[in-house]
Amino acid sequence: MTHQNFIITIDGPAGSGKSTVARLLAGQLGLDCLDTGAMYRAVAWILHKQKKENLSGEALIRYLKNLEFVIEGNGPGQKVWVQGMEVSQEIRTSEISRLASAVSLKPEVRLVLAEKQKALGSRGALIAEGRDMGTVIFPQAEFKFFLNASLDVRARRRYEELTERGQKVYLEEVKREMEIRDRQDQERTLSPLYPAPDAWVIDTSHLSIEEVVQSIRFRINEKAKPSTDDFQSV
Ligand code: DC
Repeated sequence: MTHQNFIITIDGPAGSGKSTVARLLAGQLGLDCLDTGAMYRAVAWILHKQKKENLSGEALIRYLKNLEFVIEGNGPGQKVWVQGMEVSQEIRTSEISRLASAVSLKPEVRLVLAEKQKALGSRGALIAEGRDMGTVIFPQAEFKFFLNASLDVRARRRYEELTERGQKVYLEEVKREMEIRDRQDQERTLSPLYPAPDAWVIDTSHLSIEEVVQSIRFRINEKAKPSTDDFQSV
């Protein structure tokens, strides 16, 4: 198959494994990877840092349009800069998780980030991961995946990730915060978290990362065969 000009979307809740899967898949297929969660986190971080949380309407849109983000890679080695400041570690705290989910409710934030994400997608082949990649940002994407897992499994994964980063957290606390964030992400009016009707949904609770990646690659190869059936959700 050719890798030119196609978009793979990977959506799902926190801890579903989407960032790790996106990173491995991008490495294997030689594609760029867009972590849109990191964009929401960077916005939450800078609004908080610069005490601009009360900005709204045109003023907020202007402020956001002038923000410069650089996101390199995905996963543990990811580097994120906003306005030239490196925030790779700062944006991964529980506080920023909470603030990112809160700022993602704002229409101004979604509007400006959507423009930036679509512009990145128009440059060529990409793996885009987030909450609304397959439903809102790239509805035309040829390959759509939605990863999910039980709350217990997702909370444990996030707990292990934060602990590995050296953060002192408690499993029950991580689980409780995740539940609140899930609800907020799913119930918001604008671009809520749900699988696109043409996405392939994978429950990763009992799968290794390699199994998920294999399963996605299998699906992509099947779809790329000229004679295959339509790409349907299962
Ligand atoms: O994927 P993540 O945990 O880094 O995302 C942080 C928050 O950003 C998430 O709780 C909701 C928001 N988000 C969003 O609304 N839309 C996206 N495409 C990606 C993230």
